Amino acid sequence: MSPRPTLTTEAGAPVSDNQHSQTAGPNGPVLLQDHHLLEKLARFNRERIPERVVHAVGSGAYGTFEVTQDLTRFTRMKVFSAVGKKTEAFLRFSTVAGSKGAPDTARDPRGFAVRLYTEDGNWDLVGNNTPVFFLRDGIKFPDFIHSQKYDPYTNCQEPDNVWDFFAYSPEATHQFTWLFGDRGIPATLRHMDGFGSHTFQWVNATGERFWVKFHFKTDQGIRTLTTPEAEALGGKDPQHHQRDLYQAIDRGEFPSWTLKVQVMPEADAANYRFNPFDLTKVWPYQDYPLMEVGRLTLNRNPENFFAEVEQAALDPSHFVPGIGPSPDRMLQARLFAYGDAHRYRLGINSTQLPVNSPKGVKGGARNYGRDGAMRFDGNGGRGPNYEPNSFNGPAQTDESPGTGYAVSGMTGTFVHGKHAEDTDYVQAGALYRLMDEAAKARLVENISGSLAQVSREDIITRAIAHFRAADEEYGSRIAVAVQQKRHAR
Ligand code: HEM
Repeated sequence: MSPRPTLTTEAGAPVSDNQHSQTAGPNGPVLLQDHHLLEKLARFNRERIPERVVHAVGSGAYGTFEVTQDLTRFTRMKVFSAVGKKTEAFLRFSTVAGSKGAPDTARDPRGFAVRLYTEDGNWDLVGNNTPVFFLRDGIKFPDFIHSQKYDPYTNCQEPDNVWDFFAYSPEATHQFTWLFGDRGIPATLRHMDGFGSHTFQWVNATGERFWVKFHFKTDQGIRTLTTPEAEALGGKDPQHHQRDLYQAIDRGEFPSWTLKVQVMPEADAANYRFNPFDLTKVWPYQDYPLMEVGRLTLNRNPENFFAEVEQAALDPSHFVPGIGPSPDRMLQARLFAYGDAHRYRLGINSTQLPVNSPKGVKGGARNYGRDGAMRFDGNGGRGPNYEPNSFNGPAQTDESPGTGYAVSGMTGTFVHGKHAEDTDYVQAGALYRLMDEAAKARLVENISGSLAQVSREDIITRAIAHFRAADEEYGSRIAVAVQQKRHAR
């Protein structure tokens, strides 16, 4: 065995005793001069950083993305440029509402945040395991999350708040149907799909533009937990999903997902039967079939959870040439929110942390951003810190991104544009009717189990009205089940 290295202080001085504080004699008080003790205690007090305001509980792993099909006719993204091309990837899974320590087995959407370290910079697709979301406008997001997280008085998640907000948010009926259905609690992180959820824009080499949605289909198959199974498992092992993921990767059982896309020609958007930029809606596969593009495989656990997963800072505004945003209002709000969260949570230099730096780019990031707390690279050395300059510093490419779309009209606050078949309920009803009888029964049981805990009858009535509007049978069954549960108390 090689000799043990010497323990040092943070300043590198050897530590002679790490078991006993310095004291005034064998029975006297501890001395203020014990720098090693003070340093240890002070550092310990500063170990926690702000947790993510949402998606605080998470698990992460590295892997590889490999292109399996040629879709270069739709996008000039270099990451998709050739079949067989491989790119390093990082994926962070999460639950949404719980704070750190909350069980992995909660009924909640799961975050599915993918980063590909491409040669054109990090491309982050910060999605969920659900193809849709509760809302279609980011201005409602803080209120929605407040209704889901802990109540200011009880400090518990309150069914009153969850269902009260829903009662005023008919657009959430589709996502609530999804969430309270079987897929609302995945058995493991490996046995669920991931979605980019939003509509994004692709542009190809000739400047042709398309709208695109991303779907990561699990190669492990879908497996879910019933509510009783999840309650039992969460009680025994609250970190069940984290444990399952790192153990599978350690065993060499590398989970993978096939990436498929739905592509809509740019001009179709105006007359499509649903508003294609409404995050509460899917594009049915019969309208825009799935096309395979590649496979994402997770094959390496992070060595250090805090350094590589807690400090990971994924951001939907991290686009690369060939892809850009759509006018989806939720996506637009998110383009601001994440970078801002990272500046608060991790600081202005968080993009230099190893998990966040654009390691696919030769030579790394090059720009004129300087200084700031915790700048830990060379800070641009003696090179110029302004642009344009005459000293051969990095310069713009002058290449047109090719992305963009026409807009018209007055500025103002507007109700989201409705297309021919748009209602808040149409796809929720269709999803309910797609389920077999056993799945419908579990859905009704899950919703009524939560709704029956609400204290106010008017909230229950308004919430059930949304399910009735989606499908009369769906709503009536919930109403009956809620009344039975309330009378049984
Ligand atoms: C995390 C805001 C909607 C998926 C976060 C964080 C914020 C945030 C501030 C914490 C970021 C951090 O500290 O690193 C918002 C806002 C939204 C929104 C303002 C609506 C306008 C969505 C939607 C999805 C989503 C629609 C999925 C389709 C995620 C995921 C994470 C996250 C996966 C965790 C990222 C990670 O693993 O580090 N969100 N969010 N969010 N959000 Fe959102």
